[in-house]
Amino acid sequence: MEKVTRFSISLEKELLSKLDAFVTRSGYSNRSEAIRDFIRDRLVQEEWKDPKKEVVAVLILVYDHTARELSDCLNRIQHQHVETVISTTHIHLDHHNCLEVIILRGKAGKLKKITDSLLSTRNVKHGGVLSTTTGFDIP
Ligand code: NI
Repeated sequence: MEKVTRFSISLEKELLSKLDAFVTRSGYSNRSEAIRDFIRDRLVQEEWKDPKKEVVAVLILVYDHTARELSDCLNRIQHQHVETVISTTHIHLDHHNCLEVIILRGKAGKLKKITDSLLSTRNVKHGGVLSTTTGFDIP
């Protein structure tokens, strides 16, 4: 097991009780587990602030494939970035609606541009990005 260092934190009572409520509600076994995740989450956010840092994104798009030129447009953007788009899963939700899950890996600056252009494509009904990490620099 990895060596751990103990240190103490001073917190306002109210903030501590909010933390404890969160820990209980979220199913963490203790405060330390929750705080470790807070720190990791922040470290991942910091990775995304460096445009040259290699990161991972999971993008979700819901759209009507019969909308004019939409499928072609989404396809074109992905084909322009074959080295970055590492996986695409397409699910036909019904006669019209499609769900696409696109996984991208590359430099943060480039990933932001690609995900922005996919999300802002006309007639995309809904979408979102989970900005995550390669895990390489996150202990
Ligand atoms: Ni479809």
